[in-house]
Amino acid sequence: MKLGSCYYPEHWPEEIWSEDATRMVEMGLSQVRIGEFAWSRIEPEPGQFDWAWLDRAIGILGDAGLEIILGTPTATPPKWLVDSMPDMVAIDADGKPRGFGSRRHYCFSHQGYRTECKRIVTALAQRYGNHPAIAAWQTDNEYGCHDTVVSYSQAAAQGFRNWLAAKYENVNALNKAWGNVFWSMEYRDFAEIDPPNLTVTEPNPVHVLDYRRFASDEVVTFNKLQADIIRAHAPGRDVVHNYMGFYTEFDHHKVGQDLDVASWDSYPLGFLEQFWFSDAEKLRYARQGHPDIAAFHHDLYRGCTGGRWSVMEQQPGPVNWARYNPAPLPGMVRLWTLEAMAHGAELVSYFRWRQAPFAQEQMHAGLLRPDNMEDQGAKEARQVATEIPAVAEPGKAAPTVALLFSYEAAWLFETQPQGQSFQYLQLVFSMYSALRQLGLNVDIVSPNADLADHQMVVAPSLPIIGAGVLKKLQQLSIPVLIGPRSGSKTAHFSIPDNLAPGELQDLIPLKVTRVESLRPGFVERGEDFEIARWIEHVDTRLSAEEALNDGRGVVFVSENMRYLAGWADDVLLKRMFRRMAEEAKLAVIELPADLRLRRLGETCFAFNYGTEAINLTDLMPDAGQNHYVIGDATIAAAGVSAWTRS
Ligand code: GAL
Repeated sequence: MKLGSCYYPEHWPEEIWSEDATRMVEMGLSQVRIGEFAWSRIEPEPGQFDWAWLDRAIGILGDAGLEIILGTPTATPPKWLVDSMPDMVAIDADGKPRGFGSRRHYCFSHQGYRTECKRIVTALAQRYGNHPAIAAWQTDNEYGCHDTVVSYSQAAAQGFRNWLAAKYENVNALNKAWGNVFWSMEYRDFAEIDPPNLTVTEPNPVHVLDYRRFASDEVVTFNKLQADIIRAHAPGRDVVHNYMGFYTEFDHHKVGQDLDVASWDSYPLGFLEQFWFSDAEKLRYARQGHPDIAAFHHDLYRGCTGGRWSVMEQQPGPVNWARYNPAPLPGMVRLWTLEAMAHGAELVSYFRWRQAPFAQEQMHAGLLRPDNMEDQGAKEARQVATEIPAVAEPGKAAPTVALLFSYEAAWLFETQPQGQSFQYLQLVFSMYSALRQLGLNVDIVSPNADLADHQMVVAPSLPIIGAGVLKKLQQLSIPVLIGPRSGSKTAHFSIPDNLAPGELQDLIPLKVTRVESLRPGFVERGEDFEIARWIEHVDTRLSAEEALNDGRGVVFVSENMRYLAGWADDVLLKRMFRRMAEEAKLAVIELPADLRLRRLGETCFAFNYGTEAINLTDLMPDAGQNHYVIGDATIAAAGVSAWTRS
């Protein structure tokens, strides 16, 4: 695994570029990402390119021995460009234009803007495609950041109509599929259809879902446009995009098909603060991040390409954008870096090289402080650079659980939550976390992925069973869990004729006859577990493997298939996963709350997310006999150990 940093030569006087490059190399970094926001410097006036500074920057960084990842600058169209076609900006759900003065102010559907992107990406790729120092290209930056996938512009409305016409061919087919007889919503022509916003009460859910599918496809084609140009001019170079954390607005599996490497931007403390974690978790892990946040995304994005992935931006200290921005516990930058390695990353690149004293992110730490001195993150990067070579290249893959992740499911449940606490990402995360608390390796993959190499499968929820998925599940003989609300909708967002779980009834003979959502604090109890948020009433001849105190079943088993009829807590999830792991002959180990394991080939890593030391011999009596390549059997707070069996 390589280390790198995100660098903005245009932010600094040219006289220090060379020293910066030398310092990066001396710190143990070998890659540097540049350029992704530099459009106004590359093309200060329409059609007038200033390549000289970028030529020099690339030359200096390359001569220092750094491999460059060059970003296309399309996330930041300059003022002159926006002024030349003001309708290129995205329109938000309230109908308001997204203003100039930050970034990501474009609409994915604007054809004029796409032409401009083609022009700038072609110019860049023609100039630098064969440059020996450039190892990879990053397309744009963080598609969707700042809520920018779904736009309600005229361009998007027209794009949607075309998309619908291609999908349904005639408008009567659409009316039928959508059930538009309801509330007199029938259309006479595709031209009459608007985006589903600013309606009086909720729009038709299938209208919304199709709009989300369309918006996601727009990201896919926008990215492909750039990837194709880069591939044509930069042979042999990787095409990469940097995805975000806890973000589902577009189908990352589909975008991933046009990438060589899926990278992501890892800010564990910011994500802990901004997402659904409880106050107790936010306090307990304030300086470490929840032990499953980084790993969840590593395992998710590894599944978006053929397995190649990296961390393009790694939090090195306090960030500026969360509600509260504490500093990582000393050791955490090293821990996060080694954890990415344990999950198979090719690169961890720190964001950013030096803290900028100006503009929006002046409160965001870098490896260097604004006064050019090394900050804590740099010290840890140095340390980790010396430790990486001790870990052998992974040989054969360790056995894993496949967790099926569907972006469409996320859109569907956002469109029709039915209970406001039913959040798809949270459901998936809770199952992922329970699997990890048992020490299991997890691959998070598309429902369409090949599952031949997995030992057990968990589908937290698959509301629409895609073509081919049913067949694939039917062919499996390994333990499979199907979660609540699976098979509950047709492709056109209706209730299946035979009710939920629809076609899955071929796999497991049960029918969901009624569903309930439960407000916080209102729970259904089993002997030692609770079902909260969501519970289903099931009609079946199967006897229940787990039941509520009143006798209603919540887990049903038929051969290798299990169905879970509610939102389970950790106790129930872990018990179920233990049973499945036993059936799959996978070894499990009950880990303490702050510890996580990950096996990479022959090497096993342990990460201590707690503030107290953990002694591995308390867990594994023979831990003393391990051959430690990093650390030893006692793992300090924010510490890491890695070993092979001698
Ligand atoms: C990312 C983004 C970077 C920077 C960083 C700050 O979302 O890609 O450009 O803004 O966050 O944490």
